Amino acid sequence: MPANERDKSQWDEVYRKAPPGTLPWEQSGVSEELMDILSKGVIDSGRALDVCSASGYNTVYIAKQGFQSDGIDISSRAVELARERAAKAGVSCSFLAGDVLAMPYDDETFTFVFDRGCFHTIAPRKRKVFIREICRVLKTKGKYLLVCFTRRAWGGGGPPYIFTPGEIERYFSSLFNIVSLRKLEGVEAGGTGDAYLSVLMEKRYIDR
Ligand SMILES: C[S@@+](CC[C@H](N)C(=O)[O-])C[C@H]1O[C@@H](n2cnc3c(N)ncnc32)[C@H](O)[C@@H]1O
Repeated sequence: MPANERDKSQWDEVYRKAPPGTLPWEQSGVSEELMDILSKGVIDSGRALDVCSASGYNTVYIAKQGFQSDGIDISSRAVELARERAAKAGVSCSFLAGDVLAMPYDDETFTFVFDRGCFHTIAPRKRKVFIREICRVLKTKGKYLLVCFTRRAWGGGGPPYIFTPGEIERYFSSLFNIVSLRKLEGVEAGGTGDAYLSVLMEKRYIDR
């Protein structure tokens, strides 16, 4: 089975096994970091993409803030749940079942990409492809808000992976300027002992 088919069926299984709303990232609801950034008015309005959109909490929130809002997730079950959430909320969002490593969007489509818990699930050997894809679909000077683990209460070496600020800088700085980087102690996970980095980046001008 090709690797992305395997990932897809594993993630579908995760959503099938868990009653809707019970997965850890669903329990935290809309990202506080997302709400904070959007309230500051530092993101240009336009079209926004929620990568690894899961059951769509954040995608729906982004739409409610006046963006044209897209979500992409590898699990078709997650996409189904997200479409139901948007319909219930009465907002228009566009959800796709697809792989963030090969996204079906044109270059420079989005002014904003939001990522809570997407980059940190991607296997180390695929990270460069992921970063190039995020960069490709963003407009020049478009913003990328990354929220990823920097410490996990339960330890372990596998996904989701953890990152130091220095690692984030090394991975992203050739294509992005880092606008702000801060550490969040347990905020997004309700004080469980996990810690996150919240990193706002801006796509650099790339001379082709
Ligand atoms: C930790 S959850 C993300 C949570 C969500 N962003 C939130 O904040 O509520 C990880 C999600 O990534 C999706 N995913 C994993 N690998 C993916 C890939 N290669 N392309 C697209 N989605 C992927 C999974 O299906 C799952 O919904």
